Amino acid sequence: MQKLLSNLPLHIGIIMDGNGRWATRRGLPRNLGHKEGMRAVERTIDALIKFGIKVVTFFAFSTENWKRSKEEIEGIFALVRDYLNTNSNYFSEKGVKVRSMGDLDKFPKDLTSALENAKEETKHNDKLVLNLALNYGGRDDITYSVNKLIKSGKKAITEKDILDNLYSEGLPEPDLIIRTSGEQRISNFMIYQAAYSEYYFTKTYWPDFDEKCLKKALIAFQKRERRYGGIK
Ligand code: FPP
Repeated sequence: MQKLLSNLPLHIGIIMDGNGRWATRRGLPRNLGHKEGMRAVERTIDALIKFGIKVVTFFAFSTENWKRSKEEIEGIFALVRDYLNTNSNYFSEKGVKVRSMGDLDKFPKDLTSALENAKEETKHNDKLVLNLALNYGGRDDITYSVNKLIKSGKKAITEKDILDNLYSEGLPEPDLIIRTSGEQRISNFMIYQAAYSEYYFTKTYWPDFDEKCLKKALIAFQKRERRYGGIK
């Protein structure tokens, strides 16, 4: 723990992968994998707070996830909704501020209401920003930003303009992106913001992820030398 106090990432992005495989290997329906994945989310948030991380973004539902079965999609929505509705005390006790990124228009009302309530209730909290990527895709994010800039009447657009108008507006760029389950892909996650992120891949399936796994990722991050394209 002592060793972890310096050079920690400010913002961690997490691509939770392997819920389906975790369940299939046990002969269980995929939604049980997501349910167990939700437990891993709770454990990870506890650990992030313990380690003093300031911002976390969970890739909870991508623009591509609509291709899944209705049952699976509804199962994921219910998990997110119930999590938000039942953790109000936890958020205020721990100082968690909820926000989201992605186009919420296509979500059912019970989910968007839960999200809006949680955002409103937690807007003054300042220990950990819990950013939920929902119906999120990196390409969609860039398109959204550029369209906003066009609408504002901008004639010439800078890199910073694009960055400042993404869904993640106001958040620092992710320093570390963790992907579980052994896949080594970015899958359209924060592609503009991740230009200089460090990546950490682990074979662990998301439902098995815990404080120990997070600690390993943080120690790996501390050993990385970040140069941002410069030389040593
Ligand atoms: C990937 O596993 C995981 C998802 C598509 C999303 C899971 C979402 C949750 C557990 C809810 C998170 C909620 C909050 C509040 C952060 P997969 O199904 O793609 O796994 P597979 O590749 O093994 O099939």
